Amino acid sequence: MPASCWLYVSRSQIEVAAIPSEIEQIVSTSRGRNATLDVTGALIFARGRFSQYLEGPETSVAALRASIERDDRHTDIVTLPTKPTAVRLFEGWSLAYAGEASYMSRAMERTLVDAIEGPERDVRTLINIMVGMTDGRTPKG
Ligand SMILES: Cc1cc2nc3c(=O)[nH]c(=O)nc-3n(C[C@H](O)[C@H](O)[C@H](O)COP(=O)(O)O)c2cc1C
Repeated sequence: MPASCWLYVSRSQIEVAAIPSEIEQIVSTSRGRNATLDVTGALIFARGRFSQYLEGPETSVAALRASIERDDRHTDIVTLPTKPTAVRLFEGWSLAYAGEASYMSRAMERTLVDAIEGPERDVRTLINIMVGMTDGRTPKG
């Protein structure tokens, strides 16, 4: 059982033209560092918003959280209430990420944006969408 987990939403500060390359950079840094820290998780980006779930040892999640919170590539970080699950949700995935358009239907994107932006941020929907990204795929990183 992962000792700790962190789920948040945030607002990207990355200039639109730079989004693909910046996200690629974030994901490649993260895959190395998360693996070293025994952390697994997922990142999604939709219409200027990030959402990320991380799970692993408490000190590892705390260290990543500290780095991520001071990263000026995003702002308005809001932590959403979650509890560690009995088994990892992202076993084998140092950071699952699927490019914005590559996997998400318009309908799913709407659901996601509602879950991120809505007054009652829908934690279960967010996590389900992230887990759905990994379904039937082989872990990378
Ligand atoms: C939305 C977002 C998600 C990130 N996720 C991770 C992550 O899962 N793992 C990671 O090592 N760095 C992640 N980063 C990068 C960190 O913020 C940071 O740049 C990197 O870990 C280096 O840490 P340091 O600045 O404390 O040296 C993320 C950055 C952003 C903007």
